[in-house]
Amino acid sequence: MRRKVIAGNWKMNMLPNEAISMITELTPLVKDSENEVVLCVPYTDLFYALLTAQDTNIKIGAQNMHFEEKGAYTGEVSGPMLKSIGVEYVIIGHSERRQYFAETDETVNKKIKAAFANDLKPIVCVGESLDEKEAGKTAEIITNQTKLALEGLTNEQVRNTIIAYEPIWAIGTGKTATSEDANNSIKCIRSKIAEIYGNDVAQDVIIQYGGSVKSSNAKELFETSDIDGGLIGGASLKAEEFSKIVNYNK
Ligand code: PGA
Repeated sequence: MRRKVIAGNWKMNMLPNEAISMITELTPLVKDSENEVVLCVPYTDLFYALLTAQDTNIKIGAQNMHFEEKGAYTGEVSGPMLKSIGVEYVIIGHSERRQYFAETDETVNKKIKAAFANDLKPIVCVGESLDEKEAGKTAEIITNQTKLALEGLTNEQVRNTIIAYEPIWAIGTGKTATSEDANNSIKCIRSKIAEIYGNDVAQDVIIQYGGSVKSSNAKELFETSDIDGGLIGGASLKAEEFSKIVNYNK
């Protein structure tokens, strides 16, 4: 049985004092959850979030990293930097980074390799745009992004990669994919992984859904056969709402 991973993506929100209050409020609400709870926070919140989440079941992640270990890359943060303060997860290739910050399938692949080299767990985002969806290209786009993201990884690394299927048209728009469509897209991704890395590996990969997940739709999405939890943007900013998503099965 695959575990469910419910990860918040705060994006460019929350000052340190807000991060500390949110995590303090969230802690008792999710402490008995059997689902894995992750919060991916801005760099400036990482240290505070790690300290506040110490001795709780809440894990902390970053939202991006550079693929080089160090060097002349002004403004960037590397894998060893994240690891050194105790970060466990890192989102890679979010569609907002692909769209606004020139992230490509190639840099996504390099960053995943760098994450593993630094013992960080990557949450890798794939997803189609509205135009691609309307042109009937969803399966082609998301399986190709997955293939390129995972290229050159060992079976063991693929097994430990979390993939977040996030249709771009569903992010921050209030439009959620139906649980049936999301589950089917995730099955396509799993089949592609099975084709390249074998069915055993594919059955172990955690594949989340993301895009306007909230407490009112989490249960329906997460109880499907192939959706292994979610990557949650807007609804992860409030402790109570996020806790209801984490506790969707209670
Ligand atoms: P949303 O964002 O939940 O606000 O739609 C999801 C994401 O971008 O990861």
